[in-house]
Formats: sequence, structure tokens, C-alpha cells
Amino acid sequence: MTNKFATDIAAIRKRGAITENYGGDVKTAIALLNEALATEIVCVLRYKSHAVVATGLASESVKEEFAQHAKEEGEHMDLIAERINQLGGKPNFNPDGLTGRAASQYEEGETLVEMIRENLVAERIAIEHYRDLIRYFGDKDPTTRTLLERVLAQEEEHANDMHDLLVAHEGRPMLKK
Ligand SMILES: [Fe+2]
Ligand SMILES: [Fe+2]
Repeated sequence: MTNKFATDIAAIRKRGAITENYGGDVKTAIALLNEALATEIVCVLRYKSHAVVATGLASESVKEEFAQHAKEEGEHMDLIAERINQLGGKPNFNPDGLTGRAASQYEEGETLVEMIRENLVAERIAIEHYRDLIRYFGDKDPTTRTLLERVLAQEEEHANDMHDLLVAHEGRPMLKK
């Protein structure tokens, strides 16, 4: 039997597992995804902390926004952990060394405006990180690339949300780098 792409079906049947027909270096892919996982865990924790700590009447809508972002960062965390598992790796949820593995930082901030600003900085770092990863995965691993593109789109929304909150609460936007 022949097919358009001359796919060697017999060879695929023999290989079976996803890692054995992987287009790139699977070990590197897992290591990179574990860095992204750490970044997401740090983002969950930072937004959770901000959502609890933000107080006062004027902060109610900000609190809700932080809580919503915490939930979405948790979804990113799950997606990335699942992908690591599919690739035959072990998602690293170990709290030891977490911030060292993450691209973003855990900064608390003393005031509402400081919190918003820290989240905006973290989102911008995450955006740069995901852009680099998307370029890396490219055609080597379109499944991972597509997943990261979905996450990136949401990080861009998060950055816009934080930017708008900063304008509303501080009266001026933060200059872009
Ligand atoms: Fe995220
Ligand atoms: Fe985000």
C-alpha cells in the first residue's frame, strides 16, 4: 500500500511511542517545558497571593482580575505538565529550586499599584519566554508549538489587562522596554 507522503506505516507500528518518532531532541524539549512549568507555578502563586492580599473597596475588581488570572495560569500549568508527561518526561512540581527554574519572579508588592506592576512585568517576561520557546519548537514539534501559542495568546491578554489596571489605578502606563 502506498500513501501520498510515503509514510512508512510498518516502521511507525514498530516504533509506537511518541518519543521514538519525535522530530526534535526530546530531553531538551522536556527540560524547556519544565522551565515553562516552573514559570506557570510561580505565576499561579503570585496571582493567588495578590488576590488574597488586595483589600479595600477600590480593589474589588482588581482582586477578581488577579483571581481569574491565577485560575488561567493554573490551566497553563496543567497543559504544560500534560505535554511533558506525553513526551515521556516527569513534570517537575518540586518546590525546591522552583524560582530558579522559572523565567518569571515571585514579587509580592506592598501596594495595589505595585502588585499590578509586578504582574505586568511578570507577564512581559513570560511573553518573551514563550516567543523564544515557540521559535525553538518551530517545525520540530508542532504540537508543543501550538500549545505554547495558545498559552502565549492568553499571556498577551493578561499583560493588556494589567496594563489597563495600571492606567486606571496609577493614571499613567508603564513605558515599554
Ligand atoms: Fe500562564
Ligand atoms: Fe499570564
